[in-house]
Amino acid sequence: MADVAPYSYPHRHLLGIEGLVPGEISALLDLSESYVEQSRRDDKKVAVLKGRTVINVFFETSTRTRTSFELAGKRLGADVINISPDISAIKKGETLLDTALTLNAMRPDLLVVRHPQSGAVHLLSEKVDGAVINAGDGWHEHPTQALLDALTIRRRLGGLSGLTVAICGDIMHSRVARSNIHLLPAEMDRFGVEVFHDMRAGLDGVDIVMMLRLQTERMQGSFVPSVREYFHFFGLDARKLAAARPDALVMHPGPMNRGVEIDSDVADDIHRSLIQEQVEMGVAVRMACLDLLTRKLQSNRAEAA
Ligand code: NCD
Repeated sequence: MADVAPYSYPHRHLLGIEGLVPGEISALLDLSESYVEQSRRDDKKVAVLKGRTVINVFFETSTRTRTSFELAGKRLGADVINISPDISAIKKGETLLDTALTLNAMRPDLLVVRHPQSGAVHLLSEKVDGAVINAGDGWHEHPTQALLDALTIRRRLGGLSGLTVAICGDIMHSRVARSNIHLLPAEMDRFGVEVFHDMRAGLDGVDIVMMLRLQTERMQGSFVPSVREYFHFFGLDARKLAAARPDALVMHPGPMNRGVEIDSDVADDIHRSLIQEQVEMGVAVRMACLDLLTRKLQSNRAEAA
């Protein structure tokens, strides 16, 4: 159980999947399993982070990620505070680094940061004393999303090895795709990544279809002629899904745009869609990340003392 977790995570921050080795990923997923059980109990709390302060700093909107980091921190007994641009001095022109230094002065143990610019979270991590978790930076990485996706697949199919996963849609603007591409081939130790421009060819015989949102907020100009046309060519519906294995599973990190990248019939198919399970796994994975990073912080502080 979490209280006796012997595994020692070797990094101070969690900024991306790139840089993690397969053993570290497995250890994070193994610890997450125990937090899935914990989160299904009536009493969901353990005191692993008692007395610690977690600040969620989100410079971009979020429902799932922010809420699940908040719940994860609270289930571990931490004090959790949320900051967003609408209610903070960021709106008054404060720079990212000044915001970081201000928050740092309040001695948080962990900062969970989402920012529209790739690399911004890394920059911030160099200026603070606590541990930093990247909750999504621009087009770059979203490590906890890839971890929760892996946990979801592992629990449903018993493992990750030997599977073919089709990541579909707006790959270019997707930090979810990039983190998954770092994680999945590393864990599956075969093939790497093949690129397709035709959905049916790309879905042929795959085990998992992971759909991505069309991220218009990151586009300058128009990348697709119309939403209708996009759905026609790239939206996942039952007809396109028929190219995958008959028992293929469907995933989506959310927020979903129904009728744009995914049809409701597929998204709501209780036999094939893992979308709600992904959300549940998100809390457990974030509990594991907060737990391991706090332990690391503690051992770093003990060494420095
Ligand atoms: C993703 C994100 O923010 O990158 N969402 C999430 O964290 N669940 C994907 C997206 O916004 O489309």
